[in-house]
Amino acid sequence: MNLFQEKISVLLVEYPELVDILKYEHVNADLTLDNYMNNLSSEELEDIGMNKESFCDLILGITQCTTANSKVNVKNITIKGGMFKDGSLEDIELTLETGSVTSIVGPTGSGKSRLLADIEWMAQRDTPTKRQILINSQVPHSELRFSFDCKLVAQLSQNMNFVIDTSVEEFIKMHIESRGIDNSHILMNEILYQANLLAGESFTASTPVTALSGGQSRALMIADTAILSASPIVLIDEIENAGIDRKKALELLVKKEKIILIATHDPILALLAQRRIIIQNGGIVKLIETSENEKANLVILEKLDNKLLNLRSKLRNGDIIEDIELNF
Ligand SMILES: Nc1ncnc2c1ncn2[C@@H]1O[C@H](COP(=O)(O)OP(=O)(O)OP(=O)(O)O)[C@@H](O)[C@H]1O
Ligand SMILES: [Mg+2]
Repeated sequence: MNLFQEKISVLLVEYPELVDILKYEHVNADLTLDNYMNNLSSEELEDIGMNKESFCDLILGITQCTTANSKVNVKNITIKGGMFKDGSLEDIELTLETGSVTSIVGPTGSGKSRLLADIEWMAQRDTPTKRQILINSQVPHSELRFSFDCKLVAQLSQNMNFVIDTSVEEFIKMHIESRGIDNSHILMNEILYQANLLAGESFTASTPVTALSGGQSRALMIADTAILSASPIVLIDEIENAGIDRKKALELLVKKEKIILIATHDPILALLAQRRIIIQNGGIVKLIETSENEKANLVILEKLDNKLLNLRSKLRNGDIIEDIELNF
């Protein structure tokens, strides 16, 4: 990435730390960093206390530091099989690379969330499944497993309830500050904007988080994770139950070079992934690469899905459902 040719809006998502130093009046997030630099007046530079070259060096330094601190440079994770629920051997070793999206499918209660939890905790044969998770083919250092500053994994879990009583704004602010960034309106607005694109009814910065619906909380967490989380591994449990725009959510989350796993009962999400893990009775029984044929079916599935979405919104609006057209 050539930093200086990138738009400020893109850079702030990639390197939120830059917000603190790019906060000069009326920053236009559509400018490239180059344009931004060229537009800085001598008074502004004086204010910063640096000339243009040193300011550029500072920005470069911050971005390099962020990259180095992107904790461990995770290239892949390996799932080493453990046991099925009946105690029989789960004979599998599966490596997932960065930039990949993998779905996990299987009957209710079969162990999809359990597999995500094993990855989240980097199980070392010490969970009910007795699986082992390796990072870059190595047993992860215990600091990685138990340290909160060094979180490799962001998890969007199936059941989510806010227990704190703060506003959406305060909630996002806490998260921004926990990443060592001073309060930033640009990031805050971006998270709110993206969350509202995903949710049905919109909410504002002053809405209390406890007043958000299930779908709205989910949308907020997805936007927050996509924009703020530096974790190289993202685990998503059941986007589809939340009544939010699933495809948009996935696009938002998949933007960056990460390892994405998504447990789902939804054929569209399952086929959007490059491969899927099939779980039965607590263990991985099969791995299927999504074929071109399957991808081609996505077009039909999306049409079907839109029909259903329309029906759902008609029901929500109190309309009567009479004829259902099934031709496309
Ligand atoms: N290999 C295993 N050995 C022992 N227990 C297991 C194993 N795999 C899963 N379980 C347990 O089975 C239960 C159901 O698993 P889980 O919640 O992961 O199901 P799920 O596939 O996510 O279901 P749903 O589709 O309803 O979300 C959990 O208590 C989990 O810990
Ligand atoms: Mg589950």
